Amino acid sequence: MATVTELLLPVETDLEDLLKDLRVLIGAGHPILQAAAEHLFSAGGKRIRPGIVLLISKALTVDGNLSSRHRRLAEITEMIHTASLVHDDVVDEASTRRGVDTVHSRFDHKVAVLAGDFLFAQASWHLANLNNLDVVKLLSRVIMDLAEGEVKQGLYKYDATQTLDSYLEKSYFKTASLIANSSQAVGVLSDVSDYELSQLYNYGKQLGLAFQVVDDILDFTSSQKELGKPAANDMASGYLTAPALYALEENNRLSILIEREFSSNGDIEEALTIVRNSNAINRTRKLAEQFAKDSYESITWMKDSPYKKALLNLPEYVLGRLY
Ligand code: IPE
Ligand code: IPE
Ligand code: MG
Ligand code: MG
Ligand code: MG
Repeated sequence: MATVTELLLPVETDLEDLLKDLRVLIGAGHPILQAAAEHLFSAGGKRIRPGIVLLISKALTVDGNLSSRHRRLAEITEMIHTASLVHDDVVDEASTRRGVDTVHSRFDHKVAVLAGDFLFAQASWHLANLNNLDVVKLLSRVIMDLAEGEVKQGLYKYDATQTLDSYLEKSYFKTASLIANSSQAVGVLSDVSDYELSQLYNYGKQLGLAFQVVDDILDFTSSQKELGKPAANDMASGYLTAPALYALEENNRLSILIEREFSSNGDIEEALTIVRNSNAINRTRKLAEQFAKDSYESITWMKDSPYKKALLNLPEYVLGRLY
């Protein structure tokens, strides 16, 4: 199984440039906000989203050259993603991210709220300056979706009657929307046909859903050390993700524990054991596999190139994170 670095090799130098550019772009802000944002950008992260934008950009050109607008779109995508993580960690009360303290633990909650806003605002400004109304619409929709996803997730806390469809809709808002709409935005900048635009959107959407479903499995099966962020945290916070929803179909005891919001000693541990020992993780993996397959099939029309090859390998990489 290729690592993400290997997979993104065809755009490696572009991703290095992207990091430098991001530092310059956010450098204009207030020193504390800058320090907060820099803190996270330095810690790295997989840079999958800008990687996808750059790969699609190159796959769609004749000569593999990137325009400055394509580069800027990749930067905007990573800014929006990072902003959403800074806020997500406040909402989830998470202490680590990308292997380092989260912004609110390193600084405080006010700084984290402002730093997230600051990054969203910067992203919006640079987005507007792309001077393409269709792209502005696609990416500003994402910022709406992110907020809606977090609100929706909050409304369904500890709600054992939540359906899988509602979970997937929330996952679209929280995660898939950014990948889908930024993928489509590349197509807009590259003037591709309407058919190709919709296929690019679907590639990102299905990949994003696979990604979130896998992230939700990893929360049950992986460790803080491996993830660089807290593990076994979702269910404890009342977020019922696919593994919990499937396990609820198999086990009545789990709904009792969830209904009393894990208020008795040992409830959390018992609930985690129920999910981990059920068939739910398997079923969730199957769900992710379907999304990954659909994603793969959405871009088979692209002309052959190392960029297309990397894009075709991404769905498999996402599933491979489980092993
Ligand atoms: C984390 O995304 C948020 C989710 C959508 C699960 P990543 O796992 O891509 O985070 P970084 O950017 O690599 O830190
Ligand atoms: C995805 O949800 C977060 C965003 C896309 C903002 P999670 O809450 O599962 O993300 P992690 O697990 O903290 O990275
Ligand atoms: Mg979180
Ligand atoms: Mg969250
Ligand atoms: Mg998660």
